[in-house]
Amino acid sequence: MRVLAGIALFVLILTASGGAGTTREEKPGPGVPAVHGEGALLENAVVEVLLGCLRENPAAAIAGMEKIEGNCRRLSPSESAPLPLGVLTYDQALHMALAKSREFAEAGQITGAFDQFVWVMRACRQCHEMVRRAGSESGAKRPPGS
Ligand code: HEC
Repeated sequence: MRVLAGIALFVLILTASGGAGTTREEKPGPGVPAVHGEGALLENAVVEVLLGCLRENPAAAIAGMEKIEGNCRRLSPSESAPLPLGVLTYDQALHMALAKSREFAEAGQITGAFDQFVWVMRACRQCHEMVRRAGSESGAKRPPGS
């Protein structure tokens, strides 16, 4: 029941914030690496994972997780130089929480998978917050909320 309430809250937050972001310029600006792929694709993958949890369907949740993993490359410390330092930390946090969430899903433990996935969504939001504050988004692209 707690899981359901949590999921409902997050779906509400996603909806309230306008859902999938507006499509903007694709290419990263010079010197600033693109942190991840198409934002709308990632947002949809997040919803897919949440629905997988809501429907107690680990396979569906894992399919969404794979889309996130495949579209958020791991930053390396050398290339992240033009980005604020914390971006690297949130990038690592995202991948770590995603791996843990997946472990739970693979074991059929949806509650654990959901609890870990909350940390994935926190990494999305907190990285964006940091990038917004530093004003260092690449090219014409901006993190949500800008
Ligand atoms: C490590 C930092 C970081 C994390 C983690 C991160 N983002 Fe982003 N995101 C960015 C940056 C930086 C931009 C601005 C565009 C750019 O510079 O590539 C951005 C832009 C976006 C955008 C708007 C631009 C677009 O492509 O539509 C969306 C939507 C988005 N992110 C969704 C997500 C979602 C969903 C997650 C989590 C699954 C996530 N992001 C995780 C750094 C991050």
